[in-house]
Amino acid sequence: MSLLIRNGRIVSAVDDYVADIYIAADTITIIGTELPMEADREIDAGGRLVIPGGIDPHTHFDLPFGKEGIVSADDFESGTRAAALGGTTTVIDFATQAIGSSTFEALEIWHRKAEGKCAIDYGFHMIVTDMPAARLEELDRLFHKEGITSFKMFMAYPGVLYSDDGAIFRTMRRAGELGGIVTMHAENGIAIDEIVKRAVAEGKRAPAWHARTRPAILEAEAVHRTIALGESAGSPVYIVHLSCAEALEEVVRARDRGAHAYAETCPQYLFLDDSRYDLPGFEGAKYVMTPVLRPKWHQEQLWRGLRMGDLQTTGTDHCPFFFEGQKTIGKDDFTRIPNGAPGVENRMSLLYQGGVVEGRISLNRFVEITSTAAAKLFGLFPRKGTIAVGSDADLVIWDPQRTETISVDNPATHHMNVDYNAYEGITVQGMAETVISRGQVIVEQGRYCGRAGQGEYLKRAAPELI
Ligand code: URP
Ligand code: ZN
Ligand code: ZN
Repeated sequence: MSLLIRNGRIVSAVDDYVADIYIAADTITIIGTELPMEADREIDAGGRLVIPGGIDPHTHFDLPFGKEGIVSADDFESGTRAAALGGTTTVIDFATQAIGSSTFEALEIWHRKAEGKCAIDYGFHMIVTDMPAARLEELDRLFHKEGITSFKMFMAYPGVLYSDDGAIFRTMRRAGELGGIVTMHAENGIAIDEIVKRAVAEGKRAPAWHARTRPAILEAEAVHRTIALGESAGSPVYIVHLSCAEALEEVVRARDRGAHAYAETCPQYLFLDDSRYDLPGFEGAKYVMTPVLRPKWHQEQLWRGLRMGDLQTTGTDHCPFFFEGQKTIGKDDFTRIPNGAPGVENRMSLLYQGGVVEGRISLNRFVEITSTAAAKLFGLFPRKGTIAVGSDADLVIWDPQRTETISVDNPATHHMNVDYNAYEGITVQGMAETVISRGQVIVEQGRYCGRAGQGEYLKRAAPELI
């Protein structure tokens, strides 16, 4: 099967030109102007951008949360389908080690969840929750044989996902020796738990207290500690879902002295703010996530970080829970509200709107923060994350003019398996029109036409330290 995309404006992290792209099977084989060959199928991309498929390095499909049998609402089938419709062609989800069992068991479980279901290619980070010295060798096999070169740890959620500094240091030292990277949920969960306990004892149970008990300074402290531990253990570090200016300052300071410190932010921290917790009734529960939404002024600081290169990537931390039936479990107690929000479908359009349309970042930088940088940091480049001869034909034909208002009720913007959209009412210009995953058209004129199981597991290489 061959495919020829004609006359598109090809935009990568560094290029911007009009040309044709010839795809043989799943690979880009020729790029040139007025290519003389024929193909099984031709698509005219005149007046459109052709960009590398988005890479979302932070999703949680089919994730069990807490002890009440709650599972995130999108599985790998509905989640990757929604991702594809939004212009994302690769996700990196998280296999989660259960305390007391091996990381290999976790990997097997997550392979079973994903196999045969995905619309797009996928990889896994390994969430490490239990790493005594005797288990460190597991990391070697994950790295060399299983294609898992990034290990996620938590300074938050004591008793559940939390690791102490010793376990973090041990894991970082081994990850550094291997040439891997440690990614961190950076919030001081031990201190936060004390604040939460007092709030609950004082009868403060509404969703807004979730936000009031997780101050920015405790995110900044954990970011500082993550970077310090990484520097002394010899491992690059990557802060996931960075939400606030104080935390960003720590990253900037570290990068200025040459540390291998990287960070991701998410659309929720760029578009939503803490006033959402003041919504009437239980509405604020829709925005119960960690880290929490911050006051509005943080948003411009995060955009500045993206523009200046101090923030390298954007992930969604897509972790949807139904408002009715899942979030409502915490109706009388915010500590029982499952943490997380949906977003995998809307990331590309939101960043195009806030970044390119509103003039905060260039088109090339848009590609870099939605695709290229994640491909490099997570060992997928140049197979993914760019448009080049030899790269996978993961491409999005992007309509830079099409405008939609995001809504759970708008079939052009919401296919996620959840009963609300966190970005309800936000108008975005720029939408994925045609999405191609390894040479197969899986979205056409905004309609899904792929099939579950088309997406393949990606064994990733060592990170490229950008
Ligand atoms: O609230 C969030 N972010 N839920 C997903 C799990 C995590 O902490 O990344
Ligand atoms: Zn997290
Ligand atoms: Zn997450």
